[in-house]
Amino acid sequence: MSKQILVLAGDGIGPEIVAAAEKVLETVNNAFKLDLQWEHGLLGGVAIDQYGEPYPEATSEQAKKADAILLGAVGGPKWDQIERSIRPERGLLKIRSELNLFANLRPAILYPQLADASSLKPEVVAGLDILIVRELTGGIYFGQPRGIRELENGEKQGYNTDVYAESEIKRIAKVAFDLAGLRGGKVCSVDKANVLEVTELWKQTVSQEQQENYPNIQLSHMYVDNAAMQLVRAPKQFDVIVTGNLFGDILSDEAAMLTGSIGMLPSASLDEHGKGMYEPCHGSAPDIAGKDIANPLATILSVAMMLRYTFREETAAKAIEDAVGQVLDQGLRTADILSEGMTKVGTKAMGQAVVDVLNRTLK
Ligand code: IPM
Ligand code: MG
Repeated sequence: MSKQILVLAGDGIGPEIVAAAEKVLETVNNAFKLDLQWEHGLLGGVAIDQYGEPYPEATSEQAKKADAILLGAVGGPKWDQIERSIRPERGLLKIRSELNLFANLRPAILYPQLADASSLKPEVVAGLDILIVRELTGGIYFGQPRGIRELENGEKQGYNTDVYAESEIKRIAKVAFDLAGLRGGKVCSVDKANVLEVTELWKQTVSQEQQENYPNIQLSHMYVDNAAMQLVRAPKQFDVIVTGNLFGDILSDEAAMLTGSIGMLPSASLDEHGKGMYEPCHGSAPDIAGKDIANPLATILSVAMMLRYTFREETAAKAIEDAVGQVLDQGLRTADILSEGMTKVGTKAMGQAVVDVLNRTLK
């Protein structure tokens, strides 16, 4: 039976970068006879415009049936003023939570061709290859109670709750340990155990899991403030970082920027069975939408992650990643990664260049 993908282009630059990625998907689907099929759906602002909510029932039905989801990006100023509970970002949180996509993999890899684009010295970042494993369906993003209430004196008070059960910590720790076993064998668990009980339990549980089931993985612990500092001081000390939802949100943006452009970084959000949602780490960039200047490579690399993690098609995944490397070798650059002497291209041309390399090499 053919495997099903749901494509959610979303808002802003979403439709352009996803269109480029679909061409790449089509190319490898044919070349490797992967038997993948896909349909389109609505998430985020486009869904609000049509259905009045960011993650409508129709999309939810499609998403539940699909084996994997390819997402562009959601959100934009057009929907910033509407009621909080139906903003585009809420749609994203809802689909993550409903599909139980608890394991968010965010690799920060520096392409040697782009070493100049990093704001850090080349010797500090050369060869950088970090994997951030962020817990995605728990913690303070979802904890109850939450809200904005009125105090007796009439003043307003905002509150949220950071919660993690042992089982939630264990399952994300396992993902991190398993992935570390396939690469450098090191995991750094990030917490704030000196202040927050919820992360004290996090630290204990991660340690216990390592002692009981992963004796070959080298585990270290770091407070989140120190981790933020170490990422810019000496990022190459890290192999896999595992952390909760909020710390992971922040540290993954920081790690992404070490590589020079967030326009290059893909991500995967997986459930326990390998079903996943794949999306670029960057946002919807409404300021450059519709101008054919956005970098489609993060979305194209997200397709590679989809082939690797959901469909177990390592050769096809690798072919896409190699093709991206070759396109960079050719000197092609979108505006966000442009440097002197390189050739500036738009979204479509960049996507087509990847397709051309694939067509040449996969013949
Ligand atoms: C991310 C984003 C989201 C998050 C927003 C858009 C809700 O920043 O995927 O990192 O905070 O998780
Ligand atoms: Mg974020």
